[in-house]
Amino acid sequence: MRARAEHARHSPERGERPRILHARSWPIRGGAVLLGLGLGVGVGAVSAGSLPVNPASEPEAAAASSTAPDSVDAEASAIPAVTATAGSVEVEDATPVAEIEVVEDGPSIPDGALDDPTSFLVVVNKSRPLDPMTYAPEDLVNVEGVPGGSSERLRSEAAEALAQMRDAAVAEGLDFSIASGYRSYTEQISLHSLYVGRRGTTVAESFSARAGYSEHQTGWAADIYGSTSCRVKRCFADELIGAWVAENAWQYGWIVRYPKDEFDTTGYWYEPWHVRYVGVELSTWMHEQGITVLEEAVGLPAAPDYAD
Ligand code: DAL
Ligand code: ZN
Repeated sequence: MRARAEHARHSPERGERPRILHARSWPIRGGAVLLGLGLGVGVGAVSAGSLPVNPASEPEAAAASSTAPDSVDAEASAIPAVTATAGSVEVEDATPVAEIEVVEDGPSIPDGALDDPTSFLVVVNKSRPLDPMTYAPEDLVNVEGVPGGSSERLRSEAAEALAQMRDAAVAEGLDFSIASGYRSYTEQISLHSLYVGRRGTTVAESFSARAGYSEHQTGWAADIYGSTSCRVKRCFADELIGAWVAENAWQYGWIVRYPKDEFDTTGYWYEPWHVRYVGVELSTWMHEQGITVLEEAVGLPAAPDYAD
């Protein structure tokens, strides 16, 4: 993975046109510095709170808009020079005096990874089906070391990471089992149809993905449980193991993919049992930033519903 830039470069030479050396469109949260420093007198300070943000970071905004997120994405000889601090951004309209480099305040994402079904960074949601829809991973293995894992499969890296997470839980006197790992396109058709038959399409699709739209089809997602009474139920979150997973999964490259109160972004109600492997770099960054939603973390729009 490409290393992320941590610092701005500042090479002031009067009269030199500012040059954006590199830019990515990461969401701004809590006034995080997005752009490199290095210009002279600024004009028109803008509070960080009014900066363009990914609508996914604000439930109200997400509800109001499912279109592409605003972002500071600067291929930008045309944009004005910008100076940023944690608390404000100043936009300069006069002669720039420095070379600036955009600070990349996010995890590194290789080009195309978010669309690549083989990547653990792939983002699958109601507006991002797998391509191809019938995709099946090639390195599925049973989840050795996790109860239930002899009849469930994951991509090998995810299986190993889940076993590591379970080992850590066991070391603290807790435990979990796997209820569901990889599901094929045809298995998802059956499951989705079952729920639609029982609950009707609208309700069913608030918790069950259509075939081709389920993370389970990637081999990077697992449903886990502690007690059988809270197996694939919201009360998993109230169990010690559920709380432990919510708190510690990031250390092993996992996230709780459908957090509480994020329906407007994810399109699904809270699923404390559904964990998704995204790799330790991204899960750690999300933890550090306090970002719980994958779409927000990678700068993708909210996906509350299917297009049709
Ligand atoms: N329960 C999740 C959304 C799925 O069906 O993939
Ligand atoms: Zn699941």
